[in-house]
Amino acid sequence: MRKKVTLVTGAAGEVGTSLVQQLADTGERHLLTLDLTPLSYGVGAAHTHIQGDILDQSLLARLVAEYEIETIFHLAALLSTRAEFTPETAHRVNVEGTLALLRLASEQSQWRGIAVQFVFPSSIAVYGLPTPEAKGRYSRVREWEWTNPTTMYGCNKRYCELLGRYLSHHYKQLSAEEPVMIDFRSVRFPGLISAFTVPSGGTSDYAPEMLHAAAQGKPYLCFVEPHVRIPFMAMPDATNALVTLAAAPQKNLSKIVYNVTSFSLSAAEIRELVLGAFPDASIDYEPDMKRQAIVETWPADLDDTAASQDWKWHPDYDRERAFNDYLIPNIKKRYSS
Ligand code: SER
Repeated sequence: MRKKVTLVTGAAGEVGTSLVQQLADTGERHLLTLDLTPLSYGVGAAHTHIQGDILDQSLLARLVAEYEIETIFHLAALLSTRAEFTPETAHRVNVEGTLALLRLASEQSQWRGIAVQFVFPSSIAVYGLPTPEAKGRYSRVREWEWTNPTTMYGCNKRYCELLGRYLSHHYKQLSAEEPVMIDFRSVRFPGLISAFTVPSGGTSDYAPEMLHAAAQGKPYLCFVEPHVRIPFMAMPDATNALVTLAAAPQKNLSKIVYNVTSFSLSAAEIRELVLGAFPDASIDYEPDMKRQAIVETWPADLDDTAASQDWKWHPDYDRERAFNDYLIPNIKKRYSS
């Protein structure tokens, strides 16, 4: 008998670290995690970690042979700044890697005769506001607006959303009878801030970097200008969004891809909040105009009405709670120990 599992790719990454621990705490299903690196955390007996590459087809074939995969949280990706340095590698990981996992989900769905669930974190990077004036005018962007990304990562995420739509709604296997469609669900995240991990290679990283540097007494040079504004979310809300969307009855879902967000802050406002908690912190600005240009095309805020209507999405951490109850106390504890 093959073991029934939930598969999490990118499990050693920023979202993965938090999601896997949440799934382990609440779930009854065995967890199969996959990442290029070993995990820095342990999650108990009902868990198998495989160190490997999502582009390794023989590895994926082995997983299909050994496990019955019921749900996939596909988190592995190269983030937006990193992807601009190596766009073709980003395309391979972000698009071909996702296609390989979608193929795996399709095969499992056919074989089992029921739709495998595929949960995909997309991003604010799928949006591309053409000018700062447009960004100022269309502040709370809805899912169908301004989806003209300007980065490789944004293009990759947008295309994978469309692949998911195709495979969950429109795929016709021309040579065989009607295929069983996968159950693809996606959220577009804003910038994420975790108290426990620092991201690498993203363009919203200035927020978590500022906070973690201040807590360690290290000076920080912010790579965007003070006025730059994008939406953010505390990591527990991000993983809750994935888990809540996965648990929602399919009949309630009017969309395949949903915006989710919590609070919108400028870099200067983040600096103020960080200085409030760490008054001696040294935080200055040294804008990198290429990274600045990326965030200038991302919306100042997201409209997440559809998610709150369809699956009762609501962030637990608004700006005050995120900083006062989650980020500051946990970061202080982390660096003092
Ligand atoms: N946080 C990501 C990045 O900056 C966006 O999804 O690339």
